[in-house]
Amino acid sequence: MGRAYLIASGKGGVGKSTVASSLALALKARGVSTVLFDGDVGLRCADLMLNMQDQVVFDLEDILSGAVPIENALYPVGGPNSCLSLLATSQTLRAGEVRAKDVRKVAEKLKARFDVVIIDGPAGIGRNLKLLTGAADDVILVCNSDPVSVRDTEKTAEVLRDLHAHPYLIVNRLVKKEVLRGRATPPKALAESMDLRLLGMVRESLLVPRALLDNKSAYEAGDAAVKSAFDRIASRLMGEDVPLPRAEKSAVMSFFTGRRL
Ligand SMILES: Nc1ncnc2c1ncn2[C@@H]1O[C@H](COP(=O)(O)OP(=O)(O)OP(=O)(O)O)[C@@H](O)[C@H]1O
Ligand SMILES: [Mg+2]
Repeated sequence: MGRAYLIASGKGGVGKSTVASSLALALKARGVSTVLFDGDVGLRCADLMLNMQDQVVFDLEDILSGAVPIENALYPVGGPNSCLSLLATSQTLRAGEVRAKDVRKVAEKLKARFDVVIIDGPAGIGRNLKLLTGAADDVILVCNSDPVSVRDTEKTAEVLRDLHAHPYLIVNRLVKKEVLRGRATPPKALAESMDLRLLGMVRESLLVPRALLDNKSAYEAGDAAVKSAFDRIASRLMGEDVPLPRAEKSAVMSFFTGRRL
């Protein structure tokens, strides 16, 4: 039986879909049997990030309505023998029209077929977060370093704790210079202050939004540092002890000593 991870955030636009699709690709590169389940009902995007938009015919709505069995809506990414598949979300359904027990059933079926289920979730702390948290074994919160994103992450973590989840944290769009200048809180300190399990950090890269124009995810953007950040995150998710990069550790030290590097 596999494990399902919901990618969530308090604030919108922090990079959940970027993280979900790139993490799925990093797991694929490791040969882990994985499915990316686009859970942002009504706002489909994972297919575009994986360049699968021309292949998707059936989606979550077709499964929920019983029109097709789940296997007909699973599309292998990067060739027929790929260990990564995509389940696209509906573009017409609204989140309020989806029942929690039905999403749970879909997640259970995916877990029976794949070792890892990555659910790309919506932003916010509303009904949709609860709906998808119920279908996941773990939640991965994506946060940026700005104060609004940090505050929203704190609030989301609080809501998740009430749902008995102990989330992971990925800090995305990190600008190391801002951390070293003391203008942004280092990821490790952020995670500790919110009692979140730090899974990793991904730097801000101009190549990421540019890659999206070619229907490529951050993992394939041509930024080696971004790619290896996702490889490390995938390794940590698989239980490997991968230490934080050295530069990050020194930034953590400067935060505690108050010294500007
Ligand atoms: N590490 C990064 N560096 C630079 N740009 C990034 C990075 N990660 C994400 N982005 C950009 O941020 C924008 C939002 O990303 P994305 O769509 O993944 O966010 P989201 O949290 O899924 O949004 P929503 O809340 O609308 O679902 C995109 O233009 C994406 O290319
Ligand atoms: Mg998204």
